[in-house]
Amino acid sequence: MAWFLMVGNSWRIGALFSRSGVTAAAEIAEANGTLLATEEINASSGVLGRPLEPVFYDPCCSAEQYRDLAVRLLTQDKIKTIFGCYMSTARKSVLPEIEAYRGLLFYPTFYEGFEYSKRCFYTGSSSNQNAVQLARYLIENFGTRILLVGSNYVFPYEYNRIVTDLVVRANSSIVAELYVPVDPVPKDFDRIIKQIMNLKPDVVVSTVVGTGAIMLYEAYKDAGFDSSVVPIASLTTTEAEVAQMSPEVVAGHLTSASFFETLDSPQARKFVSAFKKRFGTDAPVTASAEAAYFQVHLYAKALELAGTDDPDAIAAHLPGLEFDAPQGPIRIDPDNHHTELWSRIGRINDAGKFDVVWRSETRIKPDPYFVTTSLNDWKVLHHRPLLKA
Ligand code: ACM
Repeated sequence: MAWFLMVGNSWRIGALFSRSGVTAAAEIAEANGTLLATEEINASSGVLGRPLEPVFYDPCCSAEQYRDLAVRLLTQDKIKTIFGCYMSTARKSVLPEIEAYRGLLFYPTFYEGFEYSKRCFYTGSSSNQNAVQLARYLIENFGTRILLVGSNYVFPYEYNRIVTDLVVRANSSIVAELYVPVDPVPKDFDRIIKQIMNLKPDVVVSTVVGTGAIMLYEAYKDAGFDSSVVPIASLTTTEAEVAQMSPEVVAGHLTSASFFETLDSPQARKFVSAFKKRFGTDAPVTASAEAAYFQVHLYAKALELAGTDDPDAIAAHLPGLEFDAPQGPIRIDPDNHHTELWSRIGRINDAGKFDVVWRSETRIKPDPYFVTTSLNDWKVLHHRPLLKA
């Protein structure tokens, strides 16, 4: 169902983010980032004097609905550029339609990599911008025995394959690789907790998404595990999931992301403040919300350069395009349609906020096919100057 629509002499864009279902909290944050950027652009006279007009649909976390609503945007609504998708299953069901109807997809979520489409721009991080740094940090700080637990779909499987590769190369070991249903019930975690008790890993790496993540952390706390000794490290635990748990449940656990709500730069503070003013002080601001925000700004820049919203013309102007994003200056990599992003590791403090415990010295060139796989190869940096020192 459409939940936001404007009409007029405008540039029409589509947005597919779920407002109900297992990953709704993360997706609402992404929708908010999209809307904030659209409103900012329109408040400064739009693009070439015309406003952006976003048409949002709610696919309810169903891959089939993502596909059907993408087709509806591309055909009935005659909208060729779509922003959206959280779970990789959603992106994978939308992309063939984008290709078939010659549209364009902007995807703001961190993901497993191993994908390229000339009709997709990927603005979330891939594994050489998050998994490599996190694996190294965990092994150096907590130990060499790692247990993997994930939701049963493509992103956790592929991410765990990459983490296993990194861990084995660092003379460390995966003690178990376990999966729960994508939309689990608390009982699904009994078996996981039992395995953690039996195998006694040094750290748990989780790719459990959405409501399942909350069940995992609550079961972990109830079982008496101490996060200061054996933490859970998880890309899928962001400000959006943390907001649904009490600080005692999540304090001490870790993640890797390109942006945190707590970043203290002027750009980050300005963005977080505008976000909270628009959506409420409790609205979580995640790295994916930040990517959802800056990708609309990148689109607007490309639209201005192209002078037309023809997807091929827009796509031609995006490679190499830079933006002074809240996380720091970012750039679309002309080699692979992914984005040069900053890498950070955050640990949740007693107030339920992320403290940054490690950060990259510069933005990192994306390597979505993971051609370089050692724990140090994240140092392969971009080859052009940054916007700022
Ligand atoms: C994801 O499925 N890319 C979180």
